[in-house]
Amino acid sequence: MATPTATVLVDPRRTTGAIDQRVYGQFLENMGRAIYGGVFEPGSPLADADGYRSDVLEAARELDPPVLRWPGGNFASGYHWRDGIGPPEDRSSRFDLAWSTLEPNRFGTEEFLAYARLLGSATYLNLNASTGTIDEALEWLAYCNSDLPVPEVGLRQSGPHPDRHDVPIWGIGNENFGWWQHLHTSAESYAELAREWGKLLRWADSRISLVGVGAEDPDWNWTVLSEAGVVFDWLSLHFYWNELSYEGVLAGPISSEAAICDTWGLIGAAKRRRELHHDLRICVDEWGVWPEPYLSMADQPEVINRRRRAEVGPPIHTEPVPMIEYHFDLKDALAHATWLHVLWRHPDKVSLATQAQMVNVLGPILTTPDGVVRQTTFHPLAVARRCAQSTGLDVAVLTEAGIDAANAPNRGMAALDAAGTLDPDSGQIHLSLVNRMPDDELSVDLDGIGGPATRITLWADDKAAANTPEDPNRVVPVEDHIDVGGPLTLPPHSHVTLVF
Ligand code: AHR
Repeated sequence: MATPTATVLVDPRRTTGAIDQRVYGQFLENMGRAIYGGVFEPGSPLADADGYRSDVLEAARELDPPVLRWPGGNFASGYHWRDGIGPPEDRSSRFDLAWSTLEPNRFGTEEFLAYARLLGSATYLNLNASTGTIDEALEWLAYCNSDLPVPEVGLRQSGPHPDRHDVPIWGIGNENFGWWQHLHTSAESYAELAREWGKLLRWADSRISLVGVGAEDPDWNWTVLSEAGVVFDWLSLHFYWNELSYEGVLAGPISSEAAICDTWGLIGAAKRRRELHHDLRICVDEWGVWPEPYLSMADQPEVINRRRRAEVGPPIHTEPVPMIEYHFDLKDALAHATWLHVLWRHPDKVSLATQAQMVNVLGPILTTPDGVVRQTTFHPLAVARRCAQSTGLDVAVLTEAGIDAANAPNRGMAALDAAGTLDPDSGQIHLSLVNRMPDDELSVDLDGIGGPATRITLWADDKAAANTPEDPNRVVPVEDHIDVGGPLTLPPHSHVTLVF
């Protein structure tokens, strides 16, 4: 059979706009081994004097997150920030219902903010808009951002970092639409609460930016946008790609791309109908492959009934245990590479994103007692952080070749997904190419660009190849230098980055 072909059209005059660097953020949640045994492990020979794992920090620096979101996630919806303040030895543990885990509160606000400083990341705190109150939220905001002579500020001033933290981004709730959330609620109730919380938070500190909870549900989004859009800077979406087949995982990011376009349409309509004149965009503050079927809204009655019949009691964890940890494989990395393409195609719509999550829990960084594994999913983002430029390029792909995928828009995908970025000052161009063909090479013609380039290839003979503690470098990027003068051959199931 002849090698399938594709043409990539690049015209540096056609851009998709400036990329907000905050789309390369990361998310940390007090759950599983994300924090304890992940970023923070006092007593470990790998930890520094403050308890942060140096090996994790080094790997995180390669991902260079411009923003960090914390403390959850589902954990945020039961979290009381005062539990994590003050001398560590005086802090009490609390039982976290979201993850059935005893939370020691050793890693609280100061530990998180200090970690963000080590990484040079801006901070995004997610408020408890479920079991928390607006007073508690305002007091957390004062603790972090105020200099007024109020008790919360005094608390900060007597702690390890007396100066204001000036946390710029605050989220009002997390997935309040889902039954798995503490006190989940209707769109109407959430919108009313978020509008009033947003109003007061802004009155307390007009410099902050606010994230509101969106969903992959246009009805929810419309209600929230039209009733509370006035207080938000972003509407959040969460995307987890949990199909298990090769095609299914690869289609995940492009079905998310369709959801982004749909939501953007609703934002435009809400702006017109509600006369919102401020900058209101999409934030994707949880994204990634989650290689397991996820509970859906329809599962709630069954889960509650099984618990009532005591067939399944929630497990009780008194120590950090592995939760939703996986060995991601090459196909998962191809999905992550494709997701970056989505961000570069839509910088006008998405201006904040945080990967779920950074370490262990769904993470590209996996810890063992002896070190870290950079998972396959680590590499597309790490390469992008080294090579991607400031402006999205409007790259077009022409090809007849493709593969079927039931969960893709139109139930299929082109053989090649391509995107790129440009530095308008230097003219440097970076192109990112995902050959989706599971078993075939792809011959690619670049139209509009050529010449000497650095090529970085992420590939293995087996698309199910993974990096594990036993074999940590099974799938790593390989760099060489080429002169692009004719068709390029991409290996099957590969991610190839070119920097011109
Ligand atoms: O990232 C794991 C969980 O997934 C988060 O806590 C929650 O927001 C989502 O359901």
